[in-house]
Amino acid sequence: MNSTEILDKDCLTAVKLLPTVIEVTSEERRMIKDAAVHLQKKYDTYENRDFIKHVHQLASYFLPERILNIAADFANDFSKNQYGALIFTGLMDIDQEDIGSTPPNWQSADYSKFNLYGFACALIHGALPSKPVQYYSQRKGGGLIHAIIPDERMKETQTGSGSSTDLYVHTEDAFLKHQADYLSFMYVRNEEQVPSTLYSIRSHESIGENYRPLFERIYKIPKDANLETGDSEEEALDSVLYGNYSLPFMRFDAAEQLFNSSIRQSDEAQSSLHEFWEEARHLIYSGFTPQAGDVILVNNHLCAHGRSAFRAGVRNIDGIEQPCERRIMLRMMSKVSLIDMRAHTLTEDPFFVIEEHLGKNFKHF
Ligand SMILES: [Fe+2]
Repeated sequence: MNSTEILDKDCLTAVKLLPTVIEVTSEERRMIKDAAVHLQKKYDTYENRDFIKHVHQLASYFLPERILNIAADFANDFSKNQYGALIFTGLMDIDQEDIGSTPPNWQSADYSKFNLYGFACALIHGALPSKPVQYYSQRKGGGLIHAIIPDERMKETQTGSGSSTDLYVHTEDAFLKHQADYLSFMYVRNEEQVPSTLYSIRSHESIGENYRPLFERIYKIPKDANLETGDSEEEALDSVLYGNYSLPFMRFDAAEQLFNSSIRQSDEAQSSLHEFWEEARHLIYSGFTPQAGDVILVNNHLCAHGRSAFRAGVRNIDGIEQPCERRIMLRMMSKVSLIDMRAHTLTEDPFFVIEEHLGKNFKHF
């Protein structure tokens, strides 16, 4: 675990705990690529259910031993030293020419270009072990990988398609009981050099008595900006912290819970959230700028993510702005147990999550 004290320039606060950075060696990179090529020949696409069903065994068979050990440690460690995010640098070589120009939005992306990378990401989840799943609440499912691409028409939004405003830190799908356990973000390109932001609940010095109200189920957690909000925002409430009292897990979305003007928290909830955010916002880490081929793996119960505002398709070299290819990131989400969330998956497909909001499913299923 990296524990070097660094100075976060944005807020001049010392952040002691950092995500672990793993530099993937050229030999490991070759092994991962060979595995992906082999599996692509055998299964055709990472969506192939036979591949996903066997992903744990395949990960054990094909992934380098060091990566398997790191993944196993990560998945079983909720200690005070576990940040909840791993950064794998250089996990894959990305063929930029083959990817071609960045499409205008995720809807027009050619997913066949990402096939090999999908196999590599699935193996990393498989090693935890955790199973890649898809969520109806995100892109109506849309497959096991979502391409995150800045969309000019969506640039002001708090979604993956946004760019011109900061994307506040959030745990993914905080408004679901069965939110993803793990997330991976593979960077296909990030020519704009946008830093990622991460915020770990373990970055707080300690979780004392003053945090106890955050364990109470008194907080509204609205559905996020990806979903049209119905006229009656459900009154379902949940806690921000859960699990162990001194080393808790977290469900938190700053933009939706604190700054969404269309919902009103109770006075008690608002004041606890506000106090929490006042501390949390100084603990946000933005010291890592992902490069093509890097993967950030996140425990979605320990660590929130976001990104700074940026101008899509513009890079700055020595103070001079130049046009560049717009950013592309591939997101995969996974669950450790298909059994626990069975009440919220399709009858014929236990990998397809149909939860709409805090334990309630979409009506039309
Ligand atoms: Fe997100």
